[in-house]
Amino acid sequence: MFKYVFVSGKLVIESKAKVPVRDRGFLYGDGLFETLRSYGGYTFMLDAHLERLFFSLKVLKYNLPFDKEYIKDALRRTIDKNNLQKRDAYIKIIVTRGIHSGELHFNGGYKPNLVIIADSLTPYPEVDYTKGINITTSSIRRPVMGSPLYCHKLLNYFENIFAKNEAHYNEAQEAVFLTRDHLVLEGASSNIFFVKRNIVYTPPLTQNILPGITREVVIRICRENGIEVKQKNVHYRDIINADEIFKTSSIAGIVPVKKIDRFVVARKVPGNITLKIMKLYGNKVEYLISRGISCYNKYKFLSFR
Ligand code: PDD
Repeated sequence: MFKYVFVSGKLVIESKAKVPVRDRGFLYGDGLFETLRSYGGYTFMLDAHLERLFFSLKVLKYNLPFDKEYIKDALRRTIDKNNLQKRDAYIKIIVTRGIHSGELHFNGGYKPNLVIIADSLTPYPEVDYTKGINITTSSIRRPVMGSPLYCHKLLNYFENIFAKNEAHYNEAQEAVFLTRDHLVLEGASSNIFFVKRNIVYTPPLTQNILPGITREVVIRICRENGIEVKQKNVHYRDIINADEIFKTSSIAGIVPVKKIDRFVVARKVPGNITLKIMKLYGNKVEYLISRGISCYNKYKFLSFR
């Protein structure tokens, strides 16, 4: 059975799909992407993902020949064409700035290219959720005040894949970025939380990290269920003494951590708070899907300036 991708306005058999070699996404990673998960054909938090995408497209001055409804329609057609209407799918929405004109700066003349890929989802190993994963600290240190770019899901993802490679080399499943001052920021492909004395902590968005959709849902779940949650600077020494640690992303959901570098998480994994949040997250997914809600309340972006 052929796989179809949406590219340049139409559905094309994947082996025949082409992106121009002068596309700035290919040449320089000048583009943005969103990774979403569908549950039984329902794309979870689609509006929130599109809101984040269009926020970044606006801030980074992409011209926009299409709107959110156009993307939703293209996504629906891609899911239908690949017979994923009733299955769990891994979805990537990619927007590049367009064909390079010769000037590196943004100049207004570009026509962005939209690509949508939808595949049946290969879930993460069950053991990751029942026993936890290992994470390692990346050798890459981000500047303390970060940069105006880390809050955008940019195609130039090499730092992230470099860090993932470091984790893989150390038999870990995720890498964590720190600042030069050893503040914990985020995972190579996830947001990070830890629990200490029943309080949940996660680095604040002012630290220039990706405003994860899953991170936002977890924070709201904590607030709705009387679990104290604090968005505050987290130092490496805090997290290695945590009672519980977990990571979050759209595809993986909530994944408990059993070890960070050589520090083993003292208590049982997943811990009680992590388990409770995992259960509440699963309930929330079912609830939002059953009600056809794709944006959990109003997804808020903090200004990063
Ligand atoms: N991205 N931080 C980074 C650097 C990420 O790459 C990701 C997810 C997240 C989690 O964001 P969200 O909850 O919106 O999925 C945080 C990986 C590659 C992904 O796309 O699954």
